[in-house]
Amino acid sequence: MEEKIASYLKEVAGFSAENLEQLEAFRIRFLGKKGLVPALFADFKTVAPEDRKAMGQRLNELKTAVQEKIVALKEGLDQKGEVTGSKLDVSLPSAGTLGSRHPLSIVRNEIIDIFSRIGFTVSEGPEIEDDFHNFTALNFPEEHPARDMQDTFFIEKDPDLALRTHTSSVQVRVMEHSQPPIRTISPGRVFRNEAISARAHCIFHQIEGLYVDEHVSFTDLKQTLFYFARELFSETTKIRFRPSYFPFTEPSAEMDVSCNICGGEGCNICKYTGWVEILGCGMVDPNVLESCGIDSNKYTGFAFGMGIERITMLKYQVNDLRLFFENDVRFLNQFKSAR
Ligand code: PHE
Repeated sequence: MEEKIASYLKEVAGFSAENLEQLEAFRIRFLGKKGLVPALFADFKTVAPEDRKAMGQRLNELKTAVQEKIVALKEGLDQKGEVTGSKLDVSLPSAGTLGSRHPLSIVRNEIIDIFSRIGFTVSEGPEIEDDFHNFTALNFPEEHPARDMQDTFFIEKDPDLALRTHTSSVQVRVMEHSQPPIRTISPGRVFRNEAISARAHCIFHQIEGLYVDEHVSFTDLKQTLFYFARELFSETTKIRFRPSYFPFTEPSAEMDVSCNICGGEGCNICKYTGWVEILGCGMVDPNVLESCGIDSNKYTGFAFGMGIERITMLKYQVNDLRLFFENDVRFLNQFKSAR
């Protein structure tokens, strides 16, 4: 018996397996029901009592050697199997799952870029705003129905506070703290209590602009926005202004650009008019300048405001605004940007 054990131990020590099948055959040869190790244990009965202790140890030595061999070889084969078998190498850098910028960020950055080139700086402010900065300073009289235009979310515990309905509130803050010349744009999230649909959401993003200095005229407004529209869409983009109303500007206008999809021919994006509305604008009402501590006899200004969602929808032909908030990677993966 000792001879058998010694020769098996040798065999076990020298064994190696090319694949899992060979290893399994090895396991069955030694440890299977009719394998060599159980057979030896069966023979153990015939061992003389005085030899049993030593022989028992030798037998266990063999059994352990076989088990350890199997574990060691299996580990090596498993690792190999992952590379050659399933071609999966978990140590490789991932491919194809690189993050990309959100389309709203891409367009926001582009708009900021366009205005930075003509001297506008970026200003930001709080999303929870008080009545003064969101309404009163912007010439919304108290109890005036114009406040309803903006479906405000008020903060229950403090009626003076609300989620800002536009980033014009940021411009009030800028005017409060600085004197002209002021050239600033304010990007940010705004909130309005509107039913969520393909065209509206209770949260959206705006960029508003403000220019205050001596002798700022409506011509400056038009030329600035014309430059902006051509930079954002194309060199052949045309603009037009339609009279409108905002409490904080007088006169006020809405600006349309020629449809960048059909080039003005008429399509379903521009509802066959050849034009799409992209922003509201106007000359800053003197009351607003005065509320913010700026001398309205000396200074004039223009302001404009646009929704980033709307512009992104036009630029990328996105037909449902909700896609911007759902974070479906199949949608987001379609947008790539260098910055
Ligand atoms: N604040 C306006 C809005 O939220 C946009 C606007 C800004 C209009 C500046 C005119 C001038 O709709």
